Amino acid sequence: MESVAHPSLDTPLIEHLTDLGQARQIALGCVRCDLAATRTQVVFGEGVPTARLMLVGEGPGAEEDRQGRPFVGRAGQLLDAAIAQAGLSRDQVYVTNVVRCRPVKVSDAHLENRPPRAGEIGACRVWMDAELRLVAPRALLCLGAVAAKALIDKDLRLLEARGQWLSGPRGIAALATLHPSYVLRQRDPEARDRARRMLVEDLSLAARALTPA
Ligand code: URA
Repeated sequence: MESVAHPSLDTPLIEHLTDLGQARQIALGCVRCDLAATRTQVVFGEGVPTARLMLVGEGPGAEEDRQGRPFVGRAGQLLDAAIAQAGLSRDQVYVTNVVRCRPVKVSDAHLENRPPRAGEIGACRVWMDAELRLVAPRALLCLGAVAAKALIDKDLRLLEARGQWLSGPRGIAALATLHPSYVLRQRDPEARDRARRMLVEDLSLAARALTPA
């Protein structure tokens, strides 16, 4: 889809958007922070527009930046497998990130991923809030500490908080779990297995949000 530049589109206007497709279309031209200068494209959330469960990651990586879709690289493949193991499928959920442009740093003359900065998360919050308001999920699953601190509690400690329903933005029930990239970074096969099991356990808990009350 072609991007539409709306450099002057301010927060109150975004807050009044009533259509997710329109929000996405406008976000594709976002220049609210410096990540606009280095991204290939904005990676807006995708999935069921009325999903009961929203998964929120940290920010796009190289493959997501290339394809313009969230969680399509190695971490996304692991996430898809964990979603399937939890008895879910990606077409039952909505998937997004706390920042929608790839955060990069230059290392040895090439670009590497880095965690998003507080200012970048803050600048992108208007899109996070628009997705939360328009999708209106019953539950959120924060993938990793960056998303959990941004959406649940800035002082949250992931390994202590995971597995418990907490209160997220707009009063939405929220869970925090390990980021799939964290699972991939575990070199020790046992540690990797343990981390992966925790991710699947938390996805299984989150899956309960899909069954009508
Ligand atoms: N990691 C994230 O946090 N989000 C993505 O979309 C991909 C990798």
